[in-house]
Amino acid sequence: MNKSLIGAALAAAFALPAAAQQSVEVLHWWTSGGEAAALNVLKVNLEKQGVKWNDMPVAGGGGEAAMTAVRARVTAGNPPTAVQMLGFDITDWGKQGVVADLNTIATRDGWDKSVPVALQKFSKFNGKWIAAPVNIHSTNWVWANKEVLARAGVTAEPKSFDDFIAAAEKVQKAGFVAIAHGGQPWQEATVFDSVVLATGGIDYYRKAFIELDPKSIASPTTEKVFHRMGQIRKLVDKDFSGRDWNVASGMVISGKAGFQIMGDWAKGEFVNAKKVPGKDFACWRFPGTQGNVAFNTDQFVMFKLADPGKATAQQKLAAAIMEPGFQSAFNVVKGSAPARTDVPDTAFDDCGKKAIKDLAEANKAGTLVGSIAHGHAVPASIKNAFYDVITRHFNGQIDDKKAVAELVAAARN
Ligand code: BGC
Repeated sequence: MNKSLIGAALAAAFALPAAAQQSVEVLHWWTSGGEAAALNVLKVNLEKQGVKWNDMPVAGGGGEAAMTAVRARVTAGNPPTAVQMLGFDITDWGKQGVVADLNTIATRDGWDKSVPVALQKFSKFNGKWIAAPVNIHSTNWVWANKEVLARAGVTAEPKSFDDFIAAAEKVQKAGFVAIAHGGQPWQEATVFDSVVLATGGIDYYRKAFIELDPKSIASPTTEKVFHRMGQIRKLVDKDFSGRDWNVASGMVISGKAGFQIMGDWAKGEFVNAKKVPGKDFACWRFPGTQGNVAFNTDQFVMFKLADPGKATAQQKLAAAIMEPGFQSAFNVVKGSAPARTDVPDTAFDDCGKKAIKDLAEANKAGTLVGSIAHGHAVPASIKNAFYDVITRHFNGQIDDKKAVAELVAAARN
């Protein structure tokens, strides 16, 4: 036996039993290139602290499939260490009494002071921190390929919905796909967030889709929203059905399409493809929504664990997520803004700096609202009923008027 083999044999003989190594099992839906790259920042961070990472990816943007998987695990009495979750899903789990209490680290590390109140509403239940927020995404963005725009003669950033449609029509006439879209309910709902804001403004958004005021939902404004969704539908290509969002981002990245209307996780795809904002692509607030931000925050909900070893690793995970240096490194890759307000924007590119600035301004001006599509406006039962109406309308199964009536009914779910 040579020296290194003897060394390996000795190390194996004296190694701690596998169960003694700290580990975390993390359930998430970050399976695209940009998402996986961002998650890797967290994985490496924990592995440096001696915590083994057991990955449990459940593909499907928006997280619907992941939420089904969580339910199965918790019902079987075997919850993962941490689960990526959005908005009302978090507080719904809080009500079940199966989540851990993170107050000790939250107090030690000053989470109360550094996390915006709009997020804390979802991170806490009955005054206890039950989740660690890792980012602040927003949905009202448009991603554009600069070369395609130049070739189509689109010279300026559209400032209104009608200008946007005119620009997209130019792109289509020049032989490109105007709007790269993935025909999945959550993606249509993501576009809907922007169109609602652009059409009715912030007060209408709140009244109709957060307060669920039946009169506001039944109003001509909602009919106009659906009319506009129909205008967008005419500008997507014929193969849109079922397409994943990151494949749609890829169409803009490669110059096949001009635009994508998508949350800023799309920027993660551009960055992962080594594209530079301002040079290769543009990030615009969805035209007509400037000054408003529809946000969604990914949080890691920690479940109660029986094994004390696992619970220690869980606390390490929570602390690592909230560490300012990590929040910067992670969000630079993910495309989002940090969930803490005390993280400098120095490491971020121009789109990231804009995201952080827009967020701070919207927070101050009272124009920061939870995303309808991503679980921060209404609980899952209503959100899913909205998805259904929006998608059937987008696919031409119901007209604008019927869609309005069905949305009113869906709000009663
Ligand atoms: C999440 C993002 C994710 C996106 C697409 C959203 O609901 O908040 O983190 O990148 O879905 O998977």
